[in-house]
Amino acid sequence: MRSFAVALVLAASASAYTVTYPTNDTIWTANGPNTVSWIMVNTDPQNFTIVLSNQNHYPPTQQVLAGFVTGNQGSATVNSPSGGLTPGNGYQVNLVKDAYHMDTILAQSNQFTIN
Ligand SMILES: *[C@@H]1O[C@H](CO)[C@@H](O)[C@H](O)[C@H]1NC(C)=O
Ligand SMILES: *[C@@H]1O[C@H](CO)[C@@H](O)[C@H](O)[C@H]1NC(C)=O
Repeated sequence: MRSFAVALVLAASASAYTVTYPTNDTIWTANGPNTVSWIMVNTDPQNFTIVLSNQNHYPPTQQVLAGFVTGNQGSATVNSPSGGLTPGNGYQVNLVKDAYHMDTILAQSNQFTIN
């Protein structure tokens, strides 16, 4: 029983990435570049992929903005794809394991707007 509890605590602390920017009053520009900031702890994976997600619109969208981002730099500037991002609200930035594991979400930002 005791070891089970310890395992749960370890699992809960296995990823401590927290997205600090964008916040819910951030407005990104469609043409970019835009900034993503986070905090990490030393048990976090060394790198991750930044995904722009919107689950509030139909169909939901997910697009990779940057891969193999090094965690200890604390923030990254991401460029928009050619043609720009689609303006709208309800966007979130997900830090995910890699482009093949977009459902392995390490951290998620608040919802923000792109103009
Ligand atoms: C934005 O986030 C702050 C802090 O978490 C919260 O107090 C505020 O109500 C949020 N605003 C909106 C519009 O969600
Ligand atoms: C990314 O991190 C993983 C584990 O944290 C490591 O195995 C891999 O070598 C790293 N890749 C790069 C390109 O830094």
